[in-house]
Formats: sequence, structure tokens, C-alpha cells
Amino acid sequence: MLQHIPVLLKEVLAMLSPKDGGVYFDGTFGGGGYTKAILDAADCRIIATDRDPYVKSIAEEFKSAYKKRFDFFHAKFSDIKSIVGSNEKLDGIILDLGVSNFQLVDPSRGFSFSFSGPIDMGMGLCNRTALDVIKKSSERNLADIIYQLGEEHSSRKIAKNIKMNLKNIKNTEDLANVIRSCVRKTGRIDPATKTFQALRIFVNEELSELEKVLHDSVDLLNIDGKIIVVSFHSLEDRVVKFFFRDLIRGDNRSKFKLLTKKPITSSSLEISSNRRSRSAKLRGIYMLQ
Ligand SMILES: C[S@@+](CC[C@H](N)C(=O)[O-])C[C@H]1O[C@@H](n2cnc3c(N)ncnc32)[C@H](O)[C@@H]1O
Repeated sequence: MLQHIPVLLKEVLAMLSPKDGGVYFDGTFGGGGYTKAILDAADCRIIATDRDPYVKSIAEEFKSAYKKRFDFFHAKFSDIKSIVGSNEKLDGIILDLGVSNFQLVDPSRGFSFSFSGPIDMGMGLCNRTALDVIKKSSERNLADIIYQLGEEHSSRKIAKNIKMNLKNIKNTEDLANVIRSCVRKTGRIDPATKTFQALRIFVNEELSELEKVLHDSVDLLNIDGKIIVVSFHSLEDRVVKFFFRDLIRGDNRSKFKLLTKKPITSSSLEISSNRRSRSAKLRGIYMLQ
């Protein structure tokens, strides 16, 4: 059976340090790896969300096992305020961003350029697919998306080539080949990597989702409550880093303290057993008063 191996799990758990009676929010439930470790570490409660309809069945198993200690909402984590409600305060909020292994290796989801599948890339609760984006965006807008969200310097060439070959692009394999045909491979990275990343981030509005959940989290924390985020690319990490920096410098500066001056990364041992962990960065902050 397919598995998602949670990244930096030991480090996240040590930072969160779950306590009996605590209430925690796992915004990215996925395969439930973090949630399980937290529920097993203390007699606490978890409110979890995931936008992916495919994880509902895993959440049901958790509900049977942990009963009142676990609640799941098929929702985006940016809805945290309405999900948690005004009567509840949280002792910790954890976000393990990006896609899970289940999503990545399922060709029907269209996330990977290594398989042939529909050009979708939606994690769930999206209002467009990546195919909509490449069809409906102008060449210039498509190039901007690829440049800004993929940090791809050949964005103009790629957008032009995609638009020129649109009628021949039927699946993710065709899309990857059109990109590969106009970008030279340097090193081990597939030339389609950055464009696929850009389309995925755009389709799922990943950066605005992250900005909103961080913003709304602040009012939901208990004293000593923590916000802990694991990110997988520099754009996400930048959002987290600047949000935390503004919290410790702005009007709230006496209220918050960083748990990580520099991000925690995976050990070489973790990277050797789980390649996905190589780009992970863990940052945390907690509320003093
Ligand atoms: C890396 S996986 C999380 C894995 C999980 N920590 C575990 O241990 O199994 C990321 C999950 O977050 C979900 N996700 C990503 N963005 C989301 C959002 N804005 N709202 C809710 N869920 C989201 C994805 O659907 C995916 O299932």
C-alpha cells in the first residue's frame, strides 16, 4: 500500500511538545502521520483539515480510533477561523505544506511529469485545472506565472512553446516534452520541474492560502501556543520567514518569540531514506503572553 512518509516528524514533535488537555490544529492532515504522532504523544485533541477529498477515508479511520480526540474537516486551512470557531483557543498549529506522496504518484492527479496523466494538478477544492491555466492565460501571463512561481528564467520561451503546441498537448507527458524541447537540461533536474511547480502553486493558490492561514492563526493561539510550518520551496519559506519576522518586530513584538532563528533542515540520514525531505525547512514561533 502507498505511504506518505512524514518529513521532519521527530523535530516537529519535539518543537510542538504536545501536552495533555492541549488542542492542536493540523492544517495538512494528508496521511495523518503528524496527527497520529501528536495524538499518541499526549492525551490531547486535534482539529484537522485537508483540501484533498482522497484523504477522507484515512480521516474516518482516525475518527474510529481516536473518537472525540479527533475532528476532520474537508476544507482549506485558510478557513481556520470559521473551523476553529470563536470559543476555542489552540496550543499549536502545524502546517506541512505541498503535496503528499499519494498525490504525487497518482497519474490521474497530474502532478508529476514522470507519468502521463490529465493536466490537472489540483489538490482539491480548486476552481481551475492546470490545463485551464495554459489554455486560458495569454502567453505573457503564462510566462509571468512560470517566472514568478517557478523562478524559471526561460519562462518566455516555455510559454511561447506551450501556446504554439497547445493542440498537441493532451496530457502531462506531452506538456513535459514541449517544455523539454525548448529548455536545455543542466544538472540532474528535469527541465519541466519549475514549470510544473509554478502551475501547481497557481492552480492551488498556495501562497495566498499560506498568507491567510498565518494571518488568521495569530488570534487563535493560547499563551505558549505555537505555529510550526514545514515548507518545501523558497517561495513558501520566504512567506513564513517574513511573517514570523514581522510578528517579532511589529506591534506584537512583546507577544511572540521565534523557536527557530534559522530553519531546521533534514539530516543526511533522513534525506537518504526520503528524498522528498531534502528541500524541507522547518520554522516555528510561539506566543509569550
Ligand atoms: C505534505 S502533505 C501532509 C502530510 C502529513 N503531515 C502526514 O504526516 O501525513 C500535505 C497535505 O496538505 C494538503 N494541503 C495542501 N494545501 C492545503 C490547504 N491550503 N488546505 C488544506 N489542505 C492542504 C494536501 O492536500 C496534502 O494532503
